[in-house]
Amino acid sequence: MTDSADQPTLDNLLSEVRTFPPSAEFAAAANAHAEMYSWASADRLEFWAEQARTLLDWDTPFTEVLDWSGAPVARWFADGRLNACYNAVDRHVAEGRGDRVALLFEGEPGDTRTLTYADLKSEVSRAANALTALGVRTGDRVAIYLPMIPEAVVAMLACARVGAIHSVVFGGFSAEALRSRIDDAQASLVITADGGYRRGKPSALKPAVDEALGGAADALGPIGDAPASPVHHVLVVRRTGQSVAWTQGRDVWWHDALAAASDVHEPVAVEAEHPLFILYTSGTTGKPKGIFHTTGGYLTQVAFTHLNVFDLKAETDVFWCTADVGWITGHSYVTYGPLINGATQVIYEGTPDTPHQGRWWEIVAKYGVTILYTAPTAIRTCMKWGDSIPAGFDLSSLRVLGSVGEPINPEAWMWYRRVIGHDRTPIVDTWWQTETGAIMITPLPGVTSTKPGSAQVPLPGIRAEVVDEMAQPVPNGSGGYLVLTEPWPSMLRGIWGDQQRFVDTYWSRFEGLYFAGDGAKKDDDGDIWLLGRVDDVMNVSGHRLSTTEIESALVSHPMVAEAAVVGATDATTGQAVVAFVILRSEYRERVDEVGEGADVAAELRNHVAKEIGPIAKPRTILVVAELPKTRSGKIMRRLLRDVAEHRTVGDVTTLADSSVMAQIATGLGGGS
Ligand code: WTA
Repeated sequence: MTDSADQPTLDNLLSEVRTFPPSAEFAAAANAHAEMYSWASADRLEFWAEQARTLLDWDTPFTEVLDWSGAPVARWFADGRLNACYNAVDRHVAEGRGDRVALLFEGEPGDTRTLTYADLKSEVSRAANALTALGVRTGDRVAIYLPMIPEAVVAMLACARVGAIHSVVFGGFSAEALRSRIDDAQASLVITADGGYRRGKPSALKPAVDEALGGAADALGPIGDAPASPVHHVLVVRRTGQSVAWTQGRDVWWHDALAAASDVHEPVAVEAEHPLFILYTSGTTGKPKGIFHTTGGYLTQVAFTHLNVFDLKAETDVFWCTADVGWITGHSYVTYGPLINGATQVIYEGTPDTPHQGRWWEIVAKYGVTILYTAPTAIRTCMKWGDSIPAGFDLSSLRVLGSVGEPINPEAWMWYRRVIGHDRTPIVDTWWQTETGAIMITPLPGVTSTKPGSAQVPLPGIRAEVVDEMAQPVPNGSGGYLVLTEPWPSMLRGIWGDQQRFVDTYWSRFEGLYFAGDGAKKDDDGDIWLLGRVDDVMNVSGHRLSTTEIESALVSHPMVAEAAVVGATDATTGQAVVAFVILRSEYRERVDEVGEGADVAAELRNHVAKEIGPIAKPRTILVVAELPKTRSGKIMRRLLRDVAEHRTVGDVTTLADSSVMAQIATGLGGGS
């Protein structure tokens, strides 16, 4: 079942009493105001309709707001028509903002590019014409596998412009992961690059695409029984200049295709419920879920939250969200939210410590970043590097700080406030998910008195609860499961190709309620504190990983008979992947001969990197003789987590064989 009782942080969190009210000056100028809550609770649907009307331009205005008759699939603003790219780009140019900078790009090697909204319009128009010339039609799926360069944003918008559905695959995922996502969505085109810069070196991407499409575009046809790849063309951005293999007839250089295309293109108006994108995320089974979002409702909530949660003043702010476009945060708060709102934003290609540990703060100072949105894992890493590093840069431009992706511990929150925000800037701890599409629970700067470590309150127009096993709301001061009780505009519309899984995963745990998979607690004021996942999903450096998916990767190696993976608490990454493996007997003997299995661990870590991607590599691999299982054969991860976290092992009475934990402890020399 669930492991919410495992969460060790509860008491610490609830003893947190510090609050930080907004300054009068900030509050007076804030976009958000307290009346939004009463307005939205008086007429929730009209509240969202008004946001949709004022924040977006519609080709055909909608007359319906919400149709929930097909629950759990919502339809928002369904009789309206619009185009996402038009809203993100063209209308700013049409309204005289063409000269405003949209993207301030900083490459890892230090190269820079500035794109105004007018530049962006010409780029996306050329790219849209190029996609059309390569046969991409409205409704087709396009896979995007790119580094964090302006072309990633342009590629997404160009898809949206022609009504094609993008599926961005994080550049750190392996060829195998890319292949399964391409196949699941039946993508007909892939947009990639020769490579990108990472940690001071060019890092290749194209070979993974070649491998993912392996054989399919080959003149000899598919290899063996593998089904033919649905991909007809690969568009390749030249970023690093490294040499690439080339499949004639399939591969096309991005710069050639764009040069040949006109910069005039009419955006295709689609229905509000037309799918905008698919984004794969880890679930509790081995197969990633293709979460899909549609156009009108998604854009409405993304624009509303970007404007109010970050207090964006488009004329003067410089926004920087450090997320990669491969994740939902990059979709909602790099590509769509900021551009819909006409913001100027920084995008940075590389890692925070290349070439030095002050790189981020150097970027903040260089561009005068005013709003910074990042993840707790990055904050904790910078904390570890020491206060003197950010102290070496002028951070006085910052006025709002955001956090996302995992619970932020009060200590990291306070450090962020003090060292980065100079005790001045509000911090917004924003809770949301790939599935929710946009921020759901967060303080509003200028309105909410913030508490270190708490996401606090559902946004105006959003209804959330913390419930017990029986779906009853828990009283203040108690913990339970986080649920969303009313449909919201940017909610997922399903899992691509598997609506049953959508119903089973999110809507079956509690009748009529969306089950988020997170544990939460309400404090005495009714504010919400997130406590982490209650299912078999881990959160490593703010990235979602499935225990089952990594277990499947491990058992696909010929040496491994069985595997169990747990997320163990880690001071920097939030959680770390710890794997327990049982080797097949023929290999077990070999390990016995060579002594401890250092090679085995290295080999298996590389295997996981190949199957899923380097982010999924276990931090620790422990070779064991047995795994703790219940009588029904379910692995008791709770006990393995105790071992991984060096705790006294908990209750073992439900184990089929209660001696197993003792064996594991002995085998590991007392439990690590
Ligand atoms: C976790 C990222 C605590 C949570 C936008 C959720 C958080 C999962 C927070 C979604 C937060 C995200 N506080 N936990 N502020 N934000 N999470 O889909 O467990 O990559 O279910 O979306 O991250 O991760 P995802």
